[in-house]
Amino acid sequence: MLGPLILAASRSDRMRRLVSAAPMTKPVVDRFIPGETVDQVIPIVAGLTGRGLEVTLDVVGEDITTREQAAAARDAYLRLIERLEPLALGTRAEVSVKLSMFGQSLEGGHALALENVRPVVEAAAAIGTTVTLDAEDHTTLDSMFAVHEELRKDFPGTGCVIQSYLFRTEEDARRLAADGSRVRLVKGAYKEPASVAHQDRAEVDKAYVRILRTLMEGAGYPMIGSHDPRLISVGQELARRAGRKPDEYEFQMLYGIRSDEHLRLAAQGHRMRVYTAYGTDWYGYFMRRLAEKPANLLFFVRSMITK
Ligand code: FDA
Repeated sequence: MLGPLILAASRSDRMRRLVSAAPMTKPVVDRFIPGETVDQVIPIVAGLTGRGLEVTLDVVGEDITTREQAAAARDAYLRLIERLEPLALGTRAEVSVKLSMFGQSLEGGHALALENVRPVVEAAAAIGTTVTLDAEDHTTLDSMFAVHEELRKDFPGTGCVIQSYLFRTEEDARRLAADGSRVRLVKGAYKEPASVAHQDRAEVDKAYVRILRTLMEGAGYPMIGSHDPRLISVGQELARRAGRKPDEYEFQMLYGIRSDEHLRLAAQGHRMRVYTAYGTDWYGYFMRRLAEKPANLLFFVRSMITK
């Protein structure tokens, strides 16, 4: 019950102001978003990769309202890539972007998002790494897939995300698997209506398994984005059955969630990538993490009361 309420709050400006201004919010935010600046996140990248993990970096922010903000988002990613270059990590450190941060929802937004994201993909390719397009709410996905297809003409390593809670995803997965794309499969983190998405968690999980099978049997590179122990076992089994070697798929989890499991999978010889978000506009990302696990909300509320 709490999850949908928190997701509704994640789109409320009033709640954004309240939560962001609360003095005790910051320590809880830090668990999921370990830095506000590129200077703070670079040592974290070095620490994670030094322990045998890989990373995908997300500059937090979404749903911007002006073209200037979209350009600023592009520039923030360009600065990040500049700072990654001397680390020479190649694809061990890639980046994830949300097209809504690049202007997708503004007038002429599809073309604008493509125009802003292209230099980021070019800069990433120039240092030997890739970009993955995150999946946002269902209304944005046709545009996201079209941008993905366009970028792949010049940068075939550009990845995208699909969400098992959406009815459309089984068909999207078949198309992407045949195209040989890098695809991260997740359950889905937005509040979606019953007309487009499974509402029952068991159905979301069953769809996840079906879609993952399609990806594993296809020509692309599957990225298993989940902390769910059952789906991780299923992922290992499906990769084995499809005859995939350890470098032909990977696991991905979010920074701050099941960190022991990150290291355990890496120690077993799996590619394990940690999605690491940083920046100041953390509200939407943080609220989705609270919605995924009500215990996080209790922890958050308790820390506000007891400090
Ligand atoms: P589930 O929610 O069932 O969690 C399984 C277990 O993991 C829980 O029991 C708990 O132990 C732990 N856990 C999960 N979430 C937690 C949390 N927030 N705090 C503490 N523990 C938690 N979504 C989207 O719509 N678009 C996207 O682009 C992405 N990108 C993305 C990248 C990566 C690398 C990951 C791992 C996830 C995403 N997501 C996403 C989020 C995704 O859709 C989903 O909301 C979360 O991964 C939670 O689902 P799980 O598969 O982990 O299962």
